[in-house]
Amino acid sequence: MRVHVADHPLVTHKLTVLRDVTTPSATFRALVKELVTLLAYEATRGVRVEKIDIMTPVAPATGVQIASPRPLVVPILRAGLGMLDGMTALVPTAEVGFLGMIRDERTLQPMTYATRLPEDLSGRQAFILDPMLATGGSMLAAIRFLFDRGATDITAVCLIGAPEGLALLQEALEGRNVSVVLGALDARLNEKGYIVPGLGDAGDRLYGTAG
Ligand code: PRP
Ligand code: URA
Repeated sequence: MRVHVADHPLVTHKLTVLRDVTTPSATFRALVKELVTLLAYEATRGVRVEKIDIMTPVAPATGVQIASPRPLVVPILRAGLGMLDGMTALVPTAEVGFLGMIRDERTLQPMTYATRLPEDLSGRQAFILDPMLATGGSMLAAIRFLFDRGATDITAVCLIGAPEGLALLQEALEGRNVSVVLGALDARLNEKGYIVPGLGDAGDRLYGTAG
């Protein structure tokens, strides 16, 4: 498993505003979109392309286009939905699938409540979007789900990760074709499984408190 933590002042600046408890939802949503676009640049470094011959107004030229089968982008609902527009802005030809997951706040175990994905992901490159990698349980379940359907190459894009979540993925996915791209790697989880310093509940900050 490969891990990349963004080391860019613009990412850190935008994350600082995102973390701030006084940042309102509208600003939070706009910042998430901007941050994803910055992280997507790194996350798509290995996207498969194929050669294509074109004609410029001046001469024939050879370029590349995103290869077939198209990459699949999978936001983990609810909070991952806030990252979708930023990602598809950069890869507009990607297909989009959905995974709905909720973490039980007592046991910290993820529960999957919705799946809308192609049955067969053989040979597909997939990008999973979720702002928070806390215990790593939700992301690990999502990655396993896509591998079980045949995906060959998975990149997780998260805004903030905890060492505990990264360690879980590293141990469980040793030797698998997985990359994790993070905006920041924070210090730890607290006793409630929240990332410290983190940004609180990403879904609530994007969309308000859901019952
Ligand atoms: C949050 C977050 C991740 C998960 C991370 O979602 O968006 O999916 O928690 O925690 P983990 O790494 O310990 O599994 P949540 O379950 O709160 O659902 P929501 O997106 O609907 O708010
Ligand atoms: N889910 C969140 O939204 N935030 C955390 O810090 C941990 C899990």
